[in-house]
Amino acid sequence: MRVLVTGGAGFIGANFVLRTLARRPDAEITVVDKLTYAANPATLTPVLDAITFVKGDIADSSLIDELVGDTDLVVHFAAESHNDNSLSDPSSFIHTNLIGTYSLLEAVRRHDVRYHHISTDEVYGDLDLDDPARFTEATAYNPSSPYSSTKAGSDLLVRAWVRSFGVQATISNCSNNYGPYQHVEKFIPRQITNVLSGVRPRLYGDGRNVRDWIHVDDHNDAVWAIIDRGQIGETYLIGADGEVDNRTVVESILELLGQPADAFDFVTDRPGHDRRYAIDSTRLRTELGWQPQYLDFRSGLSATIDWYREHTDWWQAAKDGVEQKYASTEQVVG
Ligand code: NAD
Ligand code: TYD
Repeated sequence: MRVLVTGGAGFIGANFVLRTLARRPDAEITVVDKLTYAANPATLTPVLDAITFVKGDIADSSLIDELVGDTDLVVHFAAESHNDNSLSDPSSFIHTNLIGTYSLLEAVRRHDVRYHHISTDEVYGDLDLDDPARFTEATAYNPSSPYSSTKAGSDLLVRAWVRSFGVQATISNCSNNYGPYQHVEKFIPRQITNVLSGVRPRLYGDGRNVRDWIHVDDHNDAVWAIIDRGQIGETYLIGADGEVDNRTVVESILELLGQPADAFDFVTDRPGHDRRYAIDSTRLRTELGWQPQYLDFRSGLSATIDWYREHTDWWQAAKDGVEQKYASTEQVVG
């Protein structure tokens, strides 16, 4: 099977490529990636002989038409993915998440190619800390940030292209991922690499915001379950019952790295900061038989810390620029 992976030099897409090469010998992989700041080409260097790599923009409709015309399946990971960046400059989010998705949908429509759309639980907005509810496939869209609103818009484009043009698509909305090869701007790698660099971790607001953590391999296994067994036109939520508040994550990182659990700072909160995300993944589990393999967040976190400790070369070059950018917007408040 010929598989076109968009955004395959980013965090989740690159893990998808590596895992697919290891587990699906029938897959012939082409990656298309613009190599933005978020990509790290080093992730794919060891497998460049086993894949085709194309540097390009998913919004470039003639390039995408050519690549899609030569594939059996598109798995669309490419996105501008960081909420904080979307608050300081939304324009690239409109370009990639909306125009880029539109360009892919038009190409899969022309060539009648199977398409899987990777999205986020952030399209549903947030939940209160004491709300027993979790997101399901029936939850109404209510995004908060430029990032989540462009992802919501891209999901709605997919639904419309399925209904109006018969595109063969599925959608997944996953909770927060952790694991190797994640950019140091994101919460968990930022705090791990801060501690490894002798800098105190930074918690936004009161640190009580909750994210529903899932290991990136569990996410990607769910994506394959949906591609293999999902129903065309349907949406599946992906989550591993991993709700943890941010303060607990930071305290765990500090403890696992042998530091006092209170050696962190509170900084100014993110505008519009979503309080809590929580996924009910019953549909994926019962209809498609998927189960997460990483059941203990603390041991997954510990393995992730080991990975960053052992791969300083992978993240060091990006670290200073990321921290300079954060320093221009955040202030220590406690
Ligand atoms: P990432 O930022 O690490 O990687 C994104 C990749 O897309 C990069 O390699 C970048 O170069 C590429 N890219 C950006 N714009 C492009 C363009 N115009 N054309 C081609 N390539 C382009 O993101 P990630 O965390 O790996 O997220 C991947 C997908 O998963 C996104 O769609 C995101 O919305 C979704 N998602 C992420 C999470 C998470 O926790 N990270 C959770 C749920 C869903
Ligand atoms: P992030 O990794 O940006 O993912 P998302 O915004 O998609 O959930 O942030 C995860 C959580 O961590 C979120 O509640 C914001 C918080 N956070 C901090 O407290 N400190 C930080 O330095 C960062 C980057 C995030």
